[in-house]
Amino acid sequence: MNFHTRKWIKPEDLNPNGSLFGGTLLRWIDEEAVIYAIVQLGNPHVVTKFISEINFVSSAKQGDIIELGITATHFGTTSLTMRCEVRNKITRKTILSIEKLVFVNLDAEGNPTAHGKKEITYAYMSIETNPKKENK
Ligand SMILES: CC(C)(COP(=O)(O)OP(=O)(O)OC[C@H]1O[C@@H](n2cnc3c(N)ncnc32)[C@H](O)[C@@H]1OP(=O)(O)O)[C@@H](O)C(=O)NCCC(=O)NCCS
Repeated sequence: MNFHTRKWIKPEDLNPNGSLFGGTLLRWIDEEAVIYAIVQLGNPHVVTKFISEINFVSSAKQGDIIELGITATHFGTTSLTMRCEVRNKITRKTILSIEKLVFVNLDAEGNPTAHGKKEITYAYMSIETNPKKENK
């Protein structure tokens, strides 16, 4: 698993008890996962379909540096399933893990469409950000 994104925990990321707010962390994860899916599927039109149990293992506090890791675990026909782990960058202590995040590949009309991908690719892939425009 690659840990691409790092976050420095700031006052605005905290809950009233002074630790990292879970909702903020989930927003970061959703964005991390959608970017991963866009790059893997070569399509900017992907949506979050399903997120499995979220295990908040330990908390983070102001000033901590955390890192977000995502990896693909299953390429379906229209879907991509990923696993996520968040850890403290310095201590490597796990903060959160999610076994399944499922994203669905959509066509220009917003319907699920086959992505044709079978495995993780690292090669540069061009991404058409406005396929509707191309059809005009
Ligand atoms: C994404 C959406 C278009 C899919 O529609 P749908 O009718 O469920 O589509 P399908 O039944 O064809 O399923 C599409 C894929 O999702 C998978 N899927 C559907 N429900 C699932 C679930 N509960 N858990 C895991 N995977 C699921 C299917 O297995 C299928 O994958 P595959 O093609 O690789 O086999 C529709 O559910 C939707 O628009 N949801 C809202 C998405 C959204 O707005 N997300 C942001 C929320 S804040």
